[in-house]
Amino acid sequence: MKPITIAVAGKGGTGKTTICGIIIDYLGKSGKGPILAVDADPNSNLNEVLGVEMPTTLGEIREKMQYKDAVDESLPPSMTKQEYTEFMFSGAMAEEDNYDLLVMGRTQGEGCYCYINGVLKAQIDKYKNGYSYIVVDNEAGLEHISRGILPHIDILLLVSDASRRGIQAVGRVATMVEELKLKPKVTKLIVNRAPGGVLDDGVKEEIGKQNLDLIGVVPQDETVYRYDADGKPSSTVPEESPVKTAMNEILKKLEL
Ligand SMILES: Nc1ncnc2c1ncn2[C@@H]1O[C@H](COP(=O)(O)OP(=O)(O)O)[C@@H](O)[C@H]1O
Ligand SMILES: [Mg+2]
Repeated sequence: MKPITIAVAGKGGTGKTTICGIIIDYLGKSGKGPILAVDADPNSNLNEVLGVEMPTTLGEIREKMQYKDAVDESLPPSMTKQEYTEFMFSGAMAEEDNYDLLVMGRTQGEGCYCYINGVLKAQIDKYKNGYSYIVVDNEAGLEHISRGILPHIDILLLVSDASRRGIQAVGRVATMVEELKLKPKVTKLIVNRAPGGVLDDGVKEEIGKQNLDLIGVVPQDETVYRYDADGKPSSTVPEESPVKTAMNEILKKLEL
């Protein structure tokens, strides 16, 4: 099985995690699984949007494995340290009915995420062929993608709010993707949190200027706000809610 990989990118707060959650919910309900959900944001919260408990993150395991004594104590006699490390990392997965969730998490100390990026990449490589979809939630930049955690990107969703600056930000991401020669098969723009679901002419003009391909506009939705405020997983808002109605149309267009 060769999975279809979907990645989101855009400024913080534009709704990347919410959109990832809704995509995972949609794929699961349409029986398109098995799905691997990857939370590659060090400030992970995809699990909250999905309504599942956070699995032990790769970052947490890394922290633990750094203490030699702790490893020596728990190292099973039949395993080398290398095997044990791999075994520990492979436990960093929450298994739900329709999807598995892999969370990168954070590591302390150094500012560089190279090591944990490497682990994340290794885990994805190891498991990817068991899934029909891989959905990756990223932090604001494209750091992880640019460091090559994904074998390839099939669908890149640029997420912006309904502001000129938001559109300019994803415009820069689109340029970076080109420079990095990531060559997603499909790159589309989603404008999220648009007041009344309507795009202002100025924003439309900016989309044209940035040469972006708009696939749909998702309204600012009171239901999402309500779910969030009540601590309920926002990917489970009713199907008839404005956000899901708009997302369902987008996902149909993407022919997932
Ligand atoms: N369409 C929407 N309507 C209302 N609130 C939204 C919508 N999309 C996202 N939000 C809210 O905006 C905030 C940021 O969304 P989030 O998905 O965490 O963004 P990101 O992952 O890009 O930082 C969250 O509180 C989320 O519930
Ligand atoms: Mg997020």
